[in-house]
Amino acid sequence: MNISLPKENLASCEHYSDAQPTVIASIAKLLKDGFENPEKVSGSCQFEFFDHQNTVWLLSVCFDKNRLELSTEKLENIDSKIRMPIPIAEKIVSNIECVDYRDPEIIGQMEMLGNLNIVNHLAKSLVKPLKTTQATFLDATTIYWDAYAMTSIPYFDSPTEMEILEKIEKKQPFIIKNASMNIPFKKYSLEKLKNAYGNVLLRVRSVKEKETVAEFVEKMTRSKSQNVSKIIEGHTKVYTEGCLLPPQMIDDFLPHYFSKHDFSAPQIWLGSVPTDVPASSLHRDPLDGFLYQIMGRKKVVLFSPDQAQYLYPMKSYNNYQPCWVKYESPNLNDFPLFKNAKPIEVVLHPGEILVQPAGWFHSVYCLDSPTFSISYFLNSATGVHLEDVEG
Ligand SMILES: [Fe+2]
Repeated sequence: MNISLPKENLASCEHYSDAQPTVIASIAKLLKDGFENPEKVSGSCQFEFFDHQNTVWLLSVCFDKNRLELSTEKLENIDSKIRMPIPIAEKIVSNIECVDYRDPEIIGQMEMLGNLNIVNHLAKSLVKPLKTTQATFLDATTIYWDAYAMTSIPYFDSPTEMEILEKIEKKQPFIIKNASMNIPFKKYSLEKLKNAYGNVLLRVRSVKEKETVAEFVEKMTRSKSQNVSKIIEGHTKVYTEGCLLPPQMIDDFLPHYFSKHDFSAPQIWLGSVPTDVPASSLHRDPLDGFLYQIMGRKKVVLFSPDQAQYLYPMKSYNNYQPCWVKYESPNLNDFPLFKNAKPIEVVLHPGEILVQPAGWFHSVYCLDSPTFSISYFLNSATGVHLEDVEG
């Protein structure tokens, strides 16, 4: 859309009055520092911050291909609105290096209205990486020549923990076949999922939107004829988008490797996504990841860490680093170096676990509907190392 704003509305964010909560200036600075716009999107968004007495402060944002403008004035004809209590804004700013907007305590108190693409675009600026994450990515892109030379992903039948860790140390991804699990994946179905965990709270999507496992499964069943053109990344896909695996399900869905305390909180990827829409768009993670496939097949497209130079990773990120370029529909005018990138495609079948060392880029597509996967990372804080495992 075209933005036409009166000039007086575009006051710099440095002009806040003393009465304004300082967190709003922090949010404005994060937006200014982290904003990128290589796709040349235009739009506007009004942040509304409110306290317990319902006093409201505004931060209005307008951007187009060349500029980002911030103001504390109310704008007319905005594309989108984000409302949140001041304590939630403070929580976001104080945890900016690890905030996860899917966290029910955060998204459960936020309200997002209007064009959600614009909301998503701005949310990409409101994160910052830890120094250790930056160091992990830098390390992964420099010395692992055998990993960078890989042209396919090997399979390992029932590897030992030692063999798993050896591959991870060399930054070489692989697929585990015949992993020992509690859940017999060959016989798994939506009906079994619903019967076993139907009343369990699955996810919180906003202040007004909460879903149990049974409600989500029913939504999946209803959405079979969903119009692909209406799917917006992160919002209207009938897909759990990696929300946390409910605690009641964790023991059933972890493989018999290591201890559950060695893994970060598992995430659930359940839903129906058309094959040409990414279930997870291109990104890299700073921890060693396991993706356990339970129902349906998934195509995973991997790029070795040294391919970063061709993939346009975003400047702002925290728990994972998304890329601007889309593997499934690359815009070579905006991202010309992508033509040099070398993808490795694999198809993950039920019962298989894809292990990806930190720093490998990946984009994920659902080949079947429904699809059901669990992912988890080896926890760096309590990290398992070769010397801790008996061969
Ligand atoms: Fe990932």
